[in-house]
Amino acid sequence: MPKTIRVAVTGAAGQICYSLLPRIASGEMFGKDTPVILQLLEIPVDKAQAALRGVAMELDDCAFPLLQDIILTDKPDVAFKDANWCLLVGSKPRGPGMERADLLKDNGKIFIGQGTSIDSVAADDCRVAVVGNPCNTNCMIAANQAKRLKPERFTAMVRLDQNRAVTQLARKAKVPVSAVSDLIVYGNHSPTMYPDFTNAKISGKKVAEAITDEAWLKESFIPTVGKRGAAIIEARGLSSAFSAANALIDHVRALTTVSSTLHSVAVCSDGSYGFAPGVWAGVPVRTTAPGTFQVDRSITLDEFAKSKIAATNAELVGERDTVKELLAAKA
Ligand code: NAD
Ligand code: LMR
Repeated sequence: MPKTIRVAVTGAAGQICYSLLPRIASGEMFGKDTPVILQLLEIPVDKAQAALRGVAMELDDCAFPLLQDIILTDKPDVAFKDANWCLLVGSKPRGPGMERADLLKDNGKIFIGQGTSIDSVAADDCRVAVVGNPCNTNCMIAANQAKRLKPERFTAMVRLDQNRAVTQLARKAKVPVSAVSDLIVYGNHSPTMYPDFTNAKISGKKVAEAITDEAWLKESFIPTVGKRGAAIIEARGLSSAFSAANALIDHVRALTTVSSTLHSVAVCSDGSYGFAPGVWAGVPVRTTAPGTFQVDRSITLDEFAKSKIAATNAELVGERDTVKELLAAKA
């Protein structure tokens, strides 16, 4: 039997985690024969801790065979102790009319303390995935605190954007989602992101062969994907939850499954595709060993794609400037 994986999850009484935790416990994230221990962090507020106890009761009541233990805590050092994966979901979601970057001042500081704690107590093989918004820059803040764990251990989630883009292309081309491949989202998890239809394929052929309406691709598809989060908030009054949980399952599975398939993952930029070194940007990655990825630098991008990437890079650089005090701060 594979070794037990300790999974720390923050914001565990929140809405994303309500959909996420049963799926981790049932083996959908790490495999159907991998036992897991859930180490769940919530804020030290009675209501949140009570809700967390309720979530744990429900997990108990599922009698998941792979779930070996559940640890409930309000202390980061307890939640992250010996964790192999840290899933950083806990943070404020935006409301109607806000942009995700508006959350930086409130949410950014959470990631100073959590980055420090992870670096000091998590397992040597620890990997971190950041979901809490704005996730690219929060990930940079957490990674910036780490001395033991290298930047490549920290990734942020743009997989929901990839999944959204795949569905939009499939709908337009009137094909099943499984016919769409090679769709990579570049840049920030924000409306500036660039879902690259120019290199994506439908039934193995260039998207432009199946969808000849270029105006739709440039003027409708891109903003629909980029503003999908806001559309869901408008419709539900709450931000996306089970689709975000589902994307995090896909994100972690992609990074733990060795394969030639490319996935959209926000990683620390080494300058590839024109991103400023040191910002966390969505790029094509391929998993070469469980938990270890390589950026594929071989994708050819046209001038349109390059101009979109320049815009999303400028936003990431701007966010980095906004949080320069948080980057200089010590927990
Ligand atoms: P939610 O408000 O339902 O839950 C968030 C939970 O986090 C709350 O229970 C809160 O008490 C907890 N929390 C806050 N600060 C914490 C801290 N310091 N430590 C531990 N827990 C803490 O929100 P949600 O809908 O679950 O969304 C969570 C985050 O995920 C938001 O920032 C949201 O914008 C983001 N999100 C990102 C994506 C993405 O694709 N990257 C998608 C959807 C949502
Ligand atoms: C999403 O994309 O659904 C999330 O990031 C929530 C949001 O604020 O849009």
